[in-house]
Amino acid sequence: MIGHAYGAFDNSAKNYEFIQVDPLAAAMGAEISEVDLANVSDKAFAEICHALYRHKMIYFRDQDITHADQENFSAKFGPFADDAYTQGVPGNRNVQPVLKEADAEVGIIFGSGWHTDSPFLQNPPAISQLRGIDIPPYGGDTMWANTALAYALLSETMQEMLSGLKVRMSIQHIIAASQKAVLAGEQPAKSNLKTSKDPEDMQLKVKGAAHPIVRAHPITGEKALYCDKTYTTTIDGMLEDEAQPILDYLINHITQAALTCRLRWEPNTYAIWDNRLCIHQAFNDHDGFRREMYRTTIAREHSA
Ligand code: SIN
Repeated sequence: MIGHAYGAFDNSAKNYEFIQVDPLAAAMGAEISEVDLANVSDKAFAEICHALYRHKMIYFRDQDITHADQENFSAKFGPFADDAYTQGVPGNRNVQPVLKEADAEVGIIFGSGWHTDSPFLQNPPAISQLRGIDIPPYGGDTMWANTALAYALLSETMQEMLSGLKVRMSIQHIIAASQKAVLAGEQPAKSNLKTSKDPEDMQLKVKGAAHPIVRAHPITGEKALYCDKTYTTTIDGMLEDEAQPILDYLINHITQAALTCRLRWEPNTYAIWDNRLCIHQAFNDHDGFRREMYRTTIAREHSA
């Protein structure tokens, strides 16, 4: 089904007392202004959380903040997640660099391909935050797709059919893509999987985790699909021939253009997204230009 955001989802801005909100696209996303992320009051923070759950991804411009500021602001959302991929910077171990140098030519970059963050873990991060420092003159955008809107656009019959099903998420596809790149003689992507040398840990990530395909947001109760292209391998209890067409349908449905938004980064842009309400992808389209970002991830559910 080709979805259209109008009528199914309201991305208009609410009136807030401490923040200014300007929606980005019809389907999702909003710019938040009148906030200094190094100095956020409790009241402004409550409004930021409300805007995050409403718009799924929010971003702030001109946030010239330090790693410590990012760590402090991120911690307001809850405990840091056990991120599967990146190592933190010295002194701020929860602030993880996401870096592609100008001379790097790799087939896969961190975050490319539609995905939700680390769903092969039993407790994947609930919220992710990304701060742009060095931004290519063009390229290097990030896109998000609204999985709550995708769920709302399904027929009741499809919604009922999916309820109770579990998707299996694993790093299988990542390993297969890396091996294919090596066999094709391409420069392998630098893996920053923290424990890639620990076979037991890799086995766990290949086995992955099963999660409900429809999840209710713990704070708003809004239902959303939990399914992506990068990590979803099958539906538990189904034969592959049965599961794959359903997964193909769902991923095409979620990622249709009308359900997405796209962010053009600037130095000091700071984005936050809720992995329970959207999926995202980065683009490997800026060879010749450096891209330096810093990420934090917040664990599981938390109360606002
Ligand atoms: C990510 O997937 O967390 C990174 C996205 C990006 O670098 O744009």
